[in-house]
Amino acid sequence: MRVDLQVRHRYMQAMGIPVWMPKVQSIPLLPEENPSPTLPLSGKGAREIDSFSSPDKGRLGGVSSDFATLSWQDLRTAVQSCTRCALSKTRTQTVFGAGNQQAAWMIIGEAPGAEEDRQGEPFVGKAGQLLNNMLLAIGMPRETVYIANVLKCRPPNNRDPQADEAANCRGYLERQIALVNPSLILVVGRIAAQNLLQTTAPLARLRGQEHRAPLSGTPVVVTYHPAYLLRQPSDKRKAWQDLLFAREVFARHAPTH
Ligand code: URA
Repeated sequence: MRVDLQVRHRYMQAMGIPVWMPKVQSIPLLPEENPSPTLPLSGKGAREIDSFSSPDKGRLGGVSSDFATLSWQDLRTAVQSCTRCALSKTRTQTVFGAGNQQAAWMIIGEAPGAEEDRQGEPFVGKAGQLLNNMLLAIGMPRETVYIANVLKCRPPNNRDPQADEAANCRGYLERQIALVNPSLILVVGRIAAQNLLQTTAPLARLRGQEHRAPLSGTPVVVTYHPAYLLRQPSDKRKAWQDLLFAREVFARHAPTH
């Protein structure tokens, strides 16, 4: 899907990113903003042929855990009844994930916050609104993607996930990745990126590179967490560059028809 530049302009403005638009005719704002006219950003056709290969793809559907064969419904039930760590005692409810289960793009965040814990859906608070705008700006409206977190339960006072909590939750996320089988994973924030990619590298080193998700081999691009961008709006421009890079990586790997 090619999103009209005017629409993208509007949402870049909503993200607080200053953009220049010519008055008379619509030309690309930046050289790298000119999307390939045939870029299959979303839609069924985007999923039919998998043009990238990974040695791990197919191995138990890319999942090494107890959950490797679970259906969506069984996985959701397993998450809902999970008591693997102490977060089960403090949560209001689990936050499984939401969106298009056949999505070409999957978005992975860190953990539910207060609002997500209350509503049972990822990214529904202020950071979620900004994430929605970022997705729309890049031509992947929220309803076209699948969104999940590293943790399915809210850590008290929004503290960082602990290693054992992330490890206990890992199989759930791996199974979600295998079930969605996206062509691209966009990870938001250092914590989510370090957990997914099993690295201690700082965000600055993780941005701007194409990574691979362990097990599934899915291409992964890392950007800032929208909650960080709300505190540090001057970095929204760099986040926009990350989104353009994500689209480039997707174009490289996505099916051609
Ligand atoms: N931050 C996250 O990382 N995930 C959410 O679902 C909400 C806020």
